Amino acid sequence: MPVLVTGAEGMLGRLVCAELKAKRVEYVPADIIGDNAHIDIADPDDLFEAFGRIRPEAVINCAAMTNVDGCETEIDLAYKLNAVGPQNLACACVAYGAVLTHVSTDYVFDGKKGSPYTEFDKPNPLGVYGASKLAGEEAIREICPNHYIVRTSWLYAPHGKNFALTMLRLAETRDEIKVVADQYGSPTYAKDLAEFLVYLHNSPMFGTYHFTNSGVCSWHEFAAAILEGAGKSVKVTPISTEEYPTPTERPKYSVLRHYRMELMGLDKARPWQETVKEFNEEIKNNNK
Ligand SMILES: NC(=O)c1ccc[n+]([C@@H]2O[C@H](COP(=O)([O-])OP(=O)(O)OC[C@H]3O[C@@H](n4cnc5c(N)ncnc54)[C@H](OP(=O)(O)O)[C@@H]3O)[C@@H](O)[C@H]2O)c1
Repeated sequence: MPVLVTGAEGMLGRLVCAELKAKRVEYVPADIIGDNAHIDIADPDDLFEAFGRIRPEAVINCAAMTNVDGCETEIDLAYKLNAVGPQNLACACVAYGAVLTHVSTDYVFDGKKGSPYTEFDKPNPLGVYGASKLAGEEAIREICPNHYIVRTSWLYAPHGKNFALTMLRLAETRDEIKVVADQYGSPTYAKDLAEFLVYLHNSPMFGTYHFTNSGVCSWHEFAAAILEGAGKSVKVTPISTEEYPTPTERPKYSVLRHYRMELMGLDKARPWQETVKEFNEEIKNNNK
């Protein structure tokens, strides 16, 4: 029986499919866009019809509304995709005996703790994106015991919409880029997260996990590393959050400690700096 990947056209979903393929695991990619199976996780009829047809033994859910500021204005849509969608998936997984792996975010925390958050810290989201993702987590915990919820942060890849690609694009046309230097987190190479999700979905250790690349930096330090690694001579100027106001307040320090994996002696996340090198190499190879 296959693994169903929802949100398979997204930045992470594409890499989860690639990892399943590399590991020779049978899978069905699905999304609301692209050429894959059309499955809308927010539509229960669509979902149950697809489960009846595909009969997945596991689901890896990469579908979400990820536009953090957009969630503030499109509140109903945010809850539909980030809370009701996972809730529907949890119901379908219980009905068909499938294991559910779901991806969540550091934005469930307010960033005021001042040290890395463990899986045992109490969430307190600052905005609609974080609140809707937390509601999705809670629905899964309530409905589907056979689940993994994996919180991650600052995802990036050589494709899709992400901060690292935005920095490279801006460097093409600007002499100076101003980047927020007082918000801290852990960049996460989406390929590393995809490997972790595929590894985890086969284990019997259900529950909540944190996974990021290891190490901490500010957005400014992350941008500087990407641009330096890419050989760009653009000036990267540190600014404060107040100098770059956004519709949604972002957590100031949302570092996720991989406490569950640490306590099991299994935390093998790579340093984020190592993945920046790989990212720049992949971009170079893609441009050849
Ligand atoms: N990106 C980050 O920095 C970050 C950080 C922490 C956690 N996360 C979490 O990581 C996961 C993957 O993020 P990502 O950046 O890979 O997201 P993404 O690139 O935005 O991909 C999400 C995919 O889901 C699709 N989708 C939207 N609504 C759907 C629905 N109702 N049914 C099925 N598919 C639907 C999207 O299609 P459209 O493009 O048409 O909407 C898109 O293809 C998400 O759960 C996100 O919350 C991301």
